[in-house]
Amino acid sequence: MKLFVTGGAGFIGSNFIRLMLNKHSDCSIINIDLLTYAGCLENLEDVSDNPRYSFIRADINDFDAMKESMKGVDAVINFAAESHVDRSIDDPSLFLKTNVFGTYTLLQAARENRIERFIQISTDEVYGSLGKEGLFSEKTPLAPNSPYSASKASADFLVRSYFKTYGFPSIITRCSNNYGPFQFPEKFIPLMITNAIEDRELPVYGDGLNIRDWIYVDDHCRAIETVLFKGKEGEVYNIGGNCEKRNIDIAKEIVARLGKSESLIKFVKDRPGHDRRYAMDSTYIKEKLGWEPKIKFEEGIELTIKWYKENKNWWQKIKSGEYREYYEKHYLNR
Ligand code: NAD
Ligand code: TYD
Repeated sequence: MKLFVTGGAGFIGSNFIRLMLNKHSDCSIINIDLLTYAGCLENLEDVSDNPRYSFIRADINDFDAMKESMKGVDAVINFAAESHVDRSIDDPSLFLKTNVFGTYTLLQAARENRIERFIQISTDEVYGSLGKEGLFSEKTPLAPNSPYSASKASADFLVRSYFKTYGFPSIITRCSNNYGPFQFPEKFIPLMITNAIEDRELPVYGDGLNIRDWIYVDDHCRAIETVLFKGKEGEVYNIGGNCEKRNIDIAKEIVARLGKSESLIKFVKDRPGHDRRYAMDSTYIKEKLGWEPKIKFEEGIELTIKWYKENKNWWQKIKSGEYREYYEKHYLNR
């Protein structure tokens, strides 16, 4: 099976590529990535010599490059995106370009190449925010609240329209918050871990009581693998970790596991439009395709902390590079 993976130099895409190459000896992968600030080929150093792996630096908005390099592949899996809510609040334009127009460009290139499977990697954030009760199901109406989630919801609607209008064989997966190795240290869990290791303050937005449903990245990658082989065209599959946690409790757990003081935790100005609670109902994918998460939070967070402790070079380079300016503007002046 020949896969066309976009955004494979990012967090989830690189974990997915590694899983597929290691697990399936008949699987070859073309990784298409623009290498934005979030893309890093080091994430795939261990597979870079694998003859079943190749990399092309390209923009998913480049129709000719997408159409040409997609020829002969069995499936397209679209991870490429601008993925950070805070950045989308600062400037939505790139989110619209990559997440909406880029998805359209891929859909069109894939349709013209008669690709037989297209998986759009989406997010629980398209459903908006929950109150104290309830879970997001695949039937929950979309109600995105940030420019990021609005761009992802727009892409989902386009994918749906290609299925309904052209009978194009697409599937959407919507996953909850991931954590694990190679996550860019602007996201909550790696930011908390790396700041705690360096004895810097841990910025917790608002009252810290916002809830996310956390899933270890390997569980998400296994779910995508399952959908690739067994998913049904035109369907949406929700993927959750069944693990609701308040941000403040995660920050406290991280400092405790690292043997640091809770005084490092600092409450800072809240994110505008900050969604209060996300929680996924993954019953459908469990019943239809037999997938469920395996890695408990206690195990996943320990593996993640260990990885960041052992891979300081990876994130210290990021934190001292061009990302520094963003970091200082965002966090140090709050
Ligand atoms: P990431 O920011 O770590 O990686 C995104 C990758 O896309 C980077 O390698 C970047 O270089 C690449 N990219 C960006 N613009 C591109 C373009 N125009 N052309 C080609 N490549 C481009 O993101 P991630 O956390 O790995 O998320 C991957 C996907 O999963 C995204 O679509 C995101 O919306 C979705 N998702 C993420 C989470 C999460 O918790 N991280 C949860 C659910 C869904
Ligand atoms: P994030 O990792 O940005 O994911 P998302 O907003 O897509 O869910 O944030 C996870 C939660 O952590 C969210 O409620 C916002 C909060 N948060 C902080 O409290 N401090 C931070 O520095 C960041 C980045 C996030």
